[in-house]
Amino acid sequence: MQKMITVNINNQEYEVQEDCNIVEACDAHNIPLQRFCYHRYLPVDGSCRTCMVEIETPQGMMVTTACTTKVKPGMAIYTNSEKAVAAQKSALEFLLLDHPLDCPICDKAGECLLQDNYFDFGRYDFRRTVARYFKGGKALNAGEHIVLDQERCILCRRCIRFFDEIVRTPELGIISRGHESSISLFPEKFIRNPYSGNSADICPVGALTLKEFRFKQRVWFLKKTKSICTQCARGCSIYIEHNKNTVWRFMPRENPALNRVWMCDRGRFSFNKLHEKRIFTPLKHQEEISFNQLYDDIAELLKTRRSGEIAWVVGPFSSNETYYALKTYCGDNAVCLMPPASGERDDLLMLAEEYPNAQGATFFGLQTETAPLIDKIQKGRIAALIIVEMDLFNLRNDSFAQCLMENIHKIPLKIYLTAYRDETVARVDYVVPVRTYAETNGTFINATSLLQKACQALVPEHPDIDAACIALYTIATGARKHQRRYSDASEMYDKLRSHYDELRSFQFNQIPEYGIALNMPKRADEPFKGIHVDFNVCSTAKPLEES
Ligand code: SF4
Ligand code: SF4
Ligand code: FES
Repeated sequence: MQKMITVNINNQEYEVQEDCNIVEACDAHNIPLQRFCYHRYLPVDGSCRTCMVEIETPQGMMVTTACTTKVKPGMAIYTNSEKAVAAQKSALEFLLLDHPLDCPICDKAGECLLQDNYFDFGRYDFRRTVARYFKGGKALNAGEHIVLDQERCILCRRCIRFFDEIVRTPELGIISRGHESSISLFPEKFIRNPYSGNSADICPVGALTLKEFRFKQRVWFLKKTKSICTQCARGCSIYIEHNKNTVWRFMPRENPALNRVWMCDRGRFSFNKLHEKRIFTPLKHQEEISFNQLYDDIAELLKTRRSGEIAWVVGPFSSNETYYALKTYCGDNAVCLMPPASGERDDLLMLAEEYPNAQGATFFGLQTETAPLIDKIQKGRIAALIIVEMDLFNLRNDSFAQCLMENIHKIPLKIYLTAYRDETVARVDYVVPVRTYAETNGTFINATSLLQKACQALVPEHPDIDAACIALYTIATGARKHQRRYSDASEMYDKLRSHYDELRSFQFNQIPEYGIALNMPKRADEPFKGIHVDFNVCSTAKPLEES
């Protein structure tokens, strides 16, 4: 439990955490205070001099930087005194002196601290009488994903601290002195580290921008939906940012105990996959059919088979609701395949398991032992195989996939629930199009046993495309659309939660922002192992994206 002390800000008393600095004390109580170089998850730098406040000291009143000054019991702080305001304005005026002010063509416009701080704390009259000093190049190719505009840089050193202290790949530095100082790549360097996209997020101005997002959308058109990254078992908290049913970027969402406010480039630039190779129409032997015919055909075909002859195969890519539907409605012949963990991994965030919900399959008690099913397939005892959201025929080095390929002729009916046109589509009798995780509500459990929700961001192309859990329910129970018990996957979650003590008190829309820590063995270490950067997030402070 953090020790609290009382300080006086602008003549009013507030309780704040004992070890926080004045910026953090203000943030905890939503007291506006300008800043550029301060960032909640980076070491304090004190370089921009814009967070000026006036404080009472034994030597008298003093104007100082708030981010470098720790609070003390009884401290009197003024963010709005005449001297504090004058100091804030003049620091801002210096930063804007040589700024190109090319906001109309700058990707940061709309989420730029320079714009926001000018309107909130500046509003001075323009006083420059001499020519502007040009600080260097525009649109320099600085990295695999990064474009650098040197003249927009305000030298806050956020990017430098991020690369030096978190990723530990020094690639950028400030060169020259005085008014000639500018941000630059180190000689022979190119930004290639696997977390490079974060530098564009934290750059308070448009000096670092993403090649994948430049000139694609104005940020004020984007809607943000709370979700998670599904590219590895870490399950970083993200926003899906979209407009007109198209995803334009993934942005990390603040979660202090998980990804803090970072994400890797592998996850960040996977957003395009949501729109690639989609399948929207049901297929019967590769011919398009209607959803009505699809579900009628499947119901007829499965009716004649005993439940022991029907096998269900899922992977660690599906949501908890899908696993629950499998366990509840689909009988005992359901297995979850775990492909080998072969992705890149490190001590920050990335995990080798390139799938999001192996823990969910464990939580719901899905069988992972495939030998009994392999035996049944080889002996021709499986009359129908339903594959759920897993490109089984694209799995390499997997004994089940191998057995399936060799014995596929022994299974008379193969049905595949998928959102994507992949290799397996061509090998089955019926294809049931389902929604991507961005088109439905759902929950996932990451490798450190945190259950998080992923909310629906997009509308599916066709109204009859269901979430996989609902399509499974329909297939397993033979229900027709008008008979269905679930109209949204969140209703499936609301049903399943009643069976688990840890979930019972949270309806889908009440699942906390930072997830629910489950009491089950973890599959991985906590993130940021060995990275010692102090940060102080007061529980009353607004999330970074909203402050
Ligand atoms: S490039 Fe951006 S983050 Fe880096 S020092 Fe300049 S303004 Fe700060
Ligand atoms: S570490 Fe994993 S979950 Fe996090 S952004 Fe990267 S791929 Fe996604
Ligand atoms: S934010 Fe405090 S000196 Fe930059």
